[in-house]
Amino acid sequence: MISLNVNGVQHTLDIDPSTPLLYALRNDLELHGAKFGCGMGQCGACTAIVDGEPTFSCVVPVGAIGTRPVRTLESLGTPDHPGPLQKAFVKHQAAQCGYCIAGMIMRAQSLLERNPHPTEEALRAHMEPNLCRCGTHMRILAAIREVAGLPEPQAHPASAQPL
Ligand code: FES
Ligand code: FES
Repeated sequence: MISLNVNGVQHTLDIDPSTPLLYALRNDLELHGAKFGCGMGQCGACTAIVDGEPTFSCVVPVGAIGTRPVRTLESLGTPDHPGPLQKAFVKHQAAQCGYCIAGMIMRAQSLLERNPHPTEEALRAHMEPNLCRCGTHMRILAAIREVAGLPEPQAHPASAQPL
């Protein structure tokens, strides 16, 4: 049996300890925010927050979580009552296909909890591991900047670079 604390709720799951956390979230707990992208720790679609750290849930076995609390997108808000990042992502129309967005929001959430007002450089460095195939990085950054109270950078060639 595996004991997992997810979004503040304690669960006991009859699954193999080697099961990836992502599978437990999606298949056993029916939390479908985190997505399966690469399954290899290379895209960030599956990002959840484990004990405050953004974590690629596709490559972490549930047996390695222990008592550390896990949080998923579902903990941040609902369609009727979205959280600040969720609102900003909608406002800035940061999603194209949307597949990366839950992971992007969870990665951003982990940063803003530690540092509510990061620098532009810190924001970009923190978000760098998460990829967006649709290329909406600039809108994603704009949404996070709004919540972080960061100004939009002046337009120059470097600002057009993807994360
Ligand atoms: Fe986990 Fe790509 S699905 S990093
Ligand atoms: Fe499609 Fe990011 S919006 S992958």
